[in-house]
Amino acid sequence: MIIEPLAGALGAEVRGVDLKAADDAVWRRVREIFLEYAVLVFRDQQLEPADLMRVGARFGEPCHYPFVSGIDGFPFIFEVVKEESETVNFGGNWHSDTTYLAQPPLATLLHALETPKQGGDTLFANTCAAYEALSEGMRAIVSKLVGLNSASLKVTGGRRKMHSTIGGMKTQDMEKADEYEAEHPVVRTHPDTGRKALYLSRSHTIRFRDMTEQESRPLIDYLQAHQIRPEFTCRVRWSPGTLTVWDNRCTQHCAINDYHGQRRRMRRLTVGAQTPQ
Ligand code: SIN
Repeated sequence: MIIEPLAGALGAEVRGVDLKAADDAVWRRVREIFLEYAVLVFRDQQLEPADLMRVGARFGEPCHYPFVSGIDGFPFIFEVVKEESETVNFGGNWHSDTTYLAQPPLATLLHALETPKQGGDTLFANTCAAYEALSEGMRAIVSKLVGLNSASLKVTGGRRKMHSTIGGMKTQDMEKADEYEAEHPVVRTHPDTGRKALYLSRSHTIRFRDMTEQESRPLIDYLQAHQIRPEFTCRVRWSPGTLTVWDNRCTQHCAINDYHGQRRRMRRLTVGAQTPQ
């Protein structure tokens, strides 16, 4: 196994591994480097949906995504598609996945099927590094805060206009977005590494507990801008067969929407529901 870091803060490309054929010893090593790098990229993985389920099971039990139905026979896997004719993409704002659930998934697996000739990369940020870079005074303030996270928020700070599609995907139950709300600590402790991480986003965090939206917004905005500073990030370039798995407990990601006129199609699976603490 060859491990090539993608940047200073997080991310590694892992060569010499066929995930379908990996034995327990390989998986033990993959788990170690998952905790070390938080974002792992495996190239040229020929994975059918059943294979993706098996790979995902190495990280945790599968989770449902509330707004998009799964592909035939695989309710936990859905396709993230942006067609040539579309301008809106899925996941185009910085976030950690489904933080509006009481138990968000610890990991997301994204497997590329069709990718644009150029563009369509995904950015990742290390939210442990971001927390550790805060001043002692700010760490003390944010450590006491609890964030209210909602599926209904749009990045401009208002309630989301309900769409029947996200990117190219038909959505269900978007009118129920308001019902998906969860409170989580703004600073969470990674259960495996013990490191503390910021856990809030401008995409999903409406306000802090016992504070108004107006009072909360400036600090949410500051912390969002802080945690995606370039030195905390890495960038993943996709090609068909690339599988990336990321740790939602200590990262944020953002799908770059810079490939209008080209198709991008991925399969996505989330696993390992956990209560942030
Ligand atoms: C997501 O936010 O889960 C999608 C990321 C991507 O399509 O790159």
